[in-house]
Amino acid sequence: MCGIVGYIGDGNAYNVLVGGLHRLEYRGYDSAGIALVDNTGKLNIYKTKGKVNSLEAFCKDKNTESKIGIAHTRWATHGEPSDYNAHPHFSEDGNLALVHNGTIENYKVLKEALIEHGCHFHSETDTEVLVQLIEYIRVHNDCSMLEAVREALKQVVGAYAIAVIEKGDPDCIVAARKSSPLVVGVGDNEFFLASDASPFVEFTDNVVYLKDEEIVLIRRGEPLKLYSLDNKENEIDVRKLEMSISQLEKGGYPHFMLKEIFEQPSTLHDCIRGRVVNDGKYITLNGVNDNKETFMSARRIIFVACGTSWHSALIGKYLIQDMCRIPVEVEYASEFRYSHPVLTPHDIVIAISQSGETADTLAAIKIARGMGAFVYGISNVVGSSIPRETHSGTYIHVGPEIGVASTKAFTGQVMVLTMLALTIAELKNTMPKEDIERIAQWTLRMPELVEKVLGLAPDIERLSLIYTYARNFLYLGRGYSYPVALEGALKLKEISYIHAEGYPAAEMKHGPIALIDAEMPSVIIAPKDHLYEKIVSNVQQVKARGGNIIAIVTEGDDEIRKIADHVLEVPEVPECLTPIITSVPLQLLSYYIAINKGKDVDMPRNLAKSVTVE
Ligand code: AGP
Ligand code: GLU
Repeated sequence: MCGIVGYIGDGNAYNVLVGGLHRLEYRGYDSAGIALVDNTGKLNIYKTKGKVNSLEAFCKDKNTESKIGIAHTRWATHGEPSDYNAHPHFSEDGNLALVHNGTIENYKVLKEALIEHGCHFHSETDTEVLVQLIEYIRVHNDCSMLEAVREALKQVVGAYAIAVIEKGDPDCIVAARKSSPLVVGVGDNEFFLASDASPFVEFTDNVVYLKDEEIVLIRRGEPLKLYSLDNKENEIDVRKLEMSISQLEKGGYPHFMLKEIFEQPSTLHDCIRGRVVNDGKYITLNGVNDNKETFMSARRIIFVACGTSWHSALIGKYLIQDMCRIPVEVEYASEFRYSHPVLTPHDIVIAISQSGETADTLAAIKIARGMGAFVYGISNVVGSSIPRETHSGTYIHVGPEIGVASTKAFTGQVMVLTMLALTIAELKNTMPKEDIERIAQWTLRMPELVEKVLGLAPDIERLSLIYTYARNFLYLGRGYSYPVALEGALKLKEISYIHAEGYPAAEMKHGPIALIDAEMPSVIIAPKDHLYEKIVSNVQQVKARGGNIIAIVTEGDDEIRKIADHVLEVPEVPECLTPIITSVPLQLLSYYIAINKGKDVDMPRNLAKSVTVE
């Protein structure tokens, strides 16, 4: 995955593009680059390894005068992060510059054919093949850039969002997408193009979401034109953007991750708003009420997701099995798609994805649809691919999540899953009405209770100092707290680069217990739930082997306090809502440990926010 931006207008293209790249840096930060056509028609390409700041430093003494350009921030898939693999890539004759997000699966075959025709390659990327191919077709067919792009894309197997500009033409960008996102912003006498709308949110709120295999011709001073790959002109559907500039800024916090952790009381409120109504007496969730029959007759639910969203899905399993008595399976989307799945039209597949663009999750959805299952999506990014590929679904409405480590999206997903389970339980009558109402009322209290948990931040910051230099961590939990343990371990791994394992607490004695010694801290998630007594024994087993214990417990818990080295108390809530409460201290713990280690928490190494490649 990478981020791409484009601009045509009367403004300074360099400033718009670099500003846009900063907003898209969450998508990748291995290298950054920009291509600008100046007023004389000269095409200038500047690119460099590293983050957007390095590109800005590199461009300081360069000619950046231009009113049109394209830019890229890379997460490498083909070829190491380096200056020469950085985008934009240019054609053999230096006439075209192209940026790309995605992967071209048949690039080797295309590359060999182009080399035979005399093309020389300057990078190891799959992307360079595209720009060379477009130029080759343009020269040999003596056609326009639009036609050449179309013909080239017909030969390509894989995923792409691309933008191309041409030397000598300071008035035109051609762009296209398939399986990677691309949005056009329509302003007054100016157009923007980007992987998501964040680069142009302060300039316009009119957006056009490109569909798969659609090509857009953006010409200065003319209306947009959209074409399909078979050259039919498509209608333009201009939508209103639901995003504000303040959502994209740090708002006084040193990092997006910390801002997003502290936003959770309000994001949970936004997530529930209009859905749990009438003081908990009524729950309404889009996409379920319109498909009542499907949900009532479902024989099985299969979750597909990746990473943190997969952890939410595991919680979804506990929720739906407990409340709705429907058998549930939870699959990694990347495994599901190649596992020869057995599905029937009586199955519901629920895809969870913050970005709505994760390639493996999208592929799993396509397989499930192809096999006749009803597919429901739970996403955050409005207008992203997953909500468009599913039969129905719901947004978590937590606002843009920019920190690479997912925090507020996780709690939003769990909240939506709770509302989903309650809604299905009501439809199927699998839970007494008063229990549904009681839990629904508790959901309304969650923002206030999470606020209370955030009050632990100073204690957690102090605690983090003791464990900053631990080399390994174990996270243990049972029942609803087991996925929380997995999520806590993932948070620590991804931003502090400390090895951490999440484990079901009772499984520990079947292997991981051998790892426990004074050097191996265990974080044990042990709220007062129906497995409480069991986990107390697990805590004792760790202590007996000399391990240090940080326990997340319910307020007033004296039993674990006597055994654990440190306790963090969280408010008492019904068991099914504990993940929302217990995950917050773990987010803070990983944040502070990573900060103590001087790590870049918003842009951890090797990662990117949305994974649009396999
Ligand atoms: C979360 O902290 C991770 N960075 C990652 O595991 C993420 O949850 C995963 O890539 C799935 O993304 P999605 O929710 O956008 O599909
Ligand atoms: N395949 C391209 C590269 O390696 C783009 C990567 C991506 O979008 O993930 O540079």
